[in-house]
Parts: sequence; C-alpha cells; structure tokens
Amino acid sequence: MTDSLLSIRDLTVRFRLPQGETTAVDRVSLDLAPGEVMGIVGESGSGKSQILYAMMGLLAANGRAEGQVLFQGQDLLTLPPRDLDRVRGDALSMIFQDPMTSLNPYMRVGDQLAEGLIVHKGLSKAQAGAEAVRMLDRVRIPDAAARARRYPHEFSGGMRQRVMIAMALLAKPKLLLADEPTTALDVTIQAQVLDLMAELGRETGTAIILVTHDLGVVARLCDRVVVLYGGRVMEEARAETLYDAPVHPYTRGLLAAMPRLETALTPRLGTIPGTPRSGGTVSGCPFVDRCEVRLPHCATERPALRDLSPFHRAACHLTGAQ
Ligand SMILES: Nc1ncnc2c1ncn2[C@@H]1O[C@H](COP(=O)(O)OP(=O)(O)O)[C@@H](O)[C@H]1O
Ligand SMILES: [Mg+2]
Repeated sequence: MTDSLLSIRDLTVRFRLPQGETTAVDRVSLDLAPGEVMGIVGESGSGKSQILYAMMGLLAANGRAEGQVLFQGQDLLTLPPRDLDRVRGDALSMIFQDPMTSLNPYMRVGDQLAEGLIVHKGLSKAQAGAEAVRMLDRVRIPDAAARARRYPHEFSGGMRQRVMIAMALLAKPKLLLADEPTTALDVTIQAQVLDLMAELGRETGTAIILVTHDLGVVARLCDRVVVLYGGRVMEEARAETLYDAPVHPYTRGLLAAMPRLETALTPRLGTIPGTPRSGGTVSGCPFVDRCEVRLPHCATERPALRDLSPFHRAACHLTGAQ
C-alpha cells in the first residue's frame, strides 16, 4: 500500500438523465504500483472509459464522481482545476481511442509534441523540437525529422496512434491511461503499437492502465487484470491467475468467448448469452441475468469483493460458498 502510485477508493460515477440517475461506475477500488501495467477489461458499456475520464476530470457535464482517486498522494477528484492541469500535462497522461480527438489538425506534428515540453518542462524551442524528433524516431516514424514538419492528416492511422504514444510518453509521465488505443487499427498493427507502448513504458518507468474489451491484448501486456461488468469489479488477479484459474462466471464466460487456435474454426463458440448490462442501478449482482450458476440471493444481495489470495479478488456469492 505504501508504495502505491495510484489508489482508487470507492470510485462511483453517476449521470443525471431526464428519467433519473444512472450509475456507470459503482464503488471501484484499485491500487497500482509504480511501473506496473494493469489491464481493465469488460464489454462495451461496462464503465471502463468513465473510470479514466473521472480520473482525468473529463466527465460529461451531467456526470459526477464520488470517492477518492489518490495519485501520488493527491486526490484528483478534489484538486483545483489549475493543479489538475499541471498533473495532466506532466505526471499523468492519456491516450484516446481516436488520435484525431487529441491531435490538432492545423498544427505540425513536431510542434504539437514540442509544445508540452516547452510549457511543462521549460525546454527551449530548439531543445523541445529535437526531443520531439527523437521521440518520433523511437516510435518508429520513418524519416522522423522530415515527418515532424507534416500535419496529422498526412499520417496513416497506425502512425497517428504512434504519434499519440510519443506525445503521451514524451513528458515521462508516472502513469499513462490508454483507452482502447488500438481498436481502430488493423490487427497486425495493433500488436506492434501495443508492444511499443509497453516497451517505452518500461524504459521510462511509466505505469500503464490499459483499457480494452480484448482479453488477448491484456494477456500479452499486463501484470494484473481487472474485470469490469456493470460498473463493478467482478474479478481482479495477476494475468496468469486470471487465465489459468478464473473464478467469476463472467470472467469464465469472457475467456470461453476468446478465440483460440483450437476453436478458430468454430467462431462464436462460447459467446456469453444475453445482452451486456450498461448503466442502471442494481441491488444484487449485475451479471445475474446472464449467469448460468446463479443462486437465489444473487438478484438481491450485492456480492462483496473478497480476497481469495493476496493477489486475487472476486465478487461472486458462489466463491464465498465454496
Ligand atoms: N453523458 C452520459 N450520460 C449518461 N450516461 C452516460 C454518459 N456517458 C456515459 N454514460 C454511460 O456510462 C456507462 C459506461 O460507459 P463507458 O465507460 O463509456 O463504457 P465502456 O468504456 O466500458 O464501453 C454506459 O452505460 C454509458 O451509456
Ligand atoms: Mg470506452
């Protein structure tokens, strides 16, 4: 606990809607050590992005976050906007799914990269420009010095995503939040970009939270995996434990739905029946409607997130009964 870089306690995100309130993130608690790579997996609508947005102070106007997000000892949820701005440009960085949302289309790529170093690190224009080119080279942008003078639209999708990684890691943040950073890319490029992100993260000692709906991706890159459903942590474990000995019926379902070599010829095998839950407020377990092994009280009693071993937690009434 004392060496925790990030300590999230009971993070809850609610949205106000005309018909009432909806809970997108429901009492999520997480700890991350410096340099650690954590994956957050879950189907679309499970609340993955809202966790990151809450941390970055980027919730939509009708959203509200409660709880604590202690980052280097400061609660990001109560930090004055100016201090939060300073943290975001420096120790905390985020990569979005669509790089065009973060890149300025009218500004040369090299200048965009250099800007952060000038503003946050006090480098001269020349120093910052040189650093920017060096970083573009590190993310394997060919002919980086010439490319730095081009505009974002002159880059391919894969290259733009690598530019985003360069930009996010340039300030050597302590924590990088990556929200499905490669979903828009084709599969072979996805793997290259993610490997590169992990490699650079290791070099700069940056901890990473990688949000994805793809269990295969987290298996390759993450030390620890958190499985999210209906805004709640269903299970959390070291990556090997989660793949070898998952306990939550939802995790088991996700793993069964993962394409493997031996099942590649029978796609859709193991798909979890039912529709993913999205938002809303549940008294029992959010997975109850789709769970094949549910107990009578699963619909009414919230299962506590229990420690099964020092690095393994799950929220399921069945695991408590075993
Ligand atoms: N501005 C908003 N108003 C109401 N509900 C929202 C808003 N933004 C997100 N949500 C809801 O929050 C839930 C979680 O969304 P999100 O974190 O984006 O899911 P994920 O990233 O896991 O796909 C969804 O049910 C979504 O509809
Ligand atoms: Mg999302």
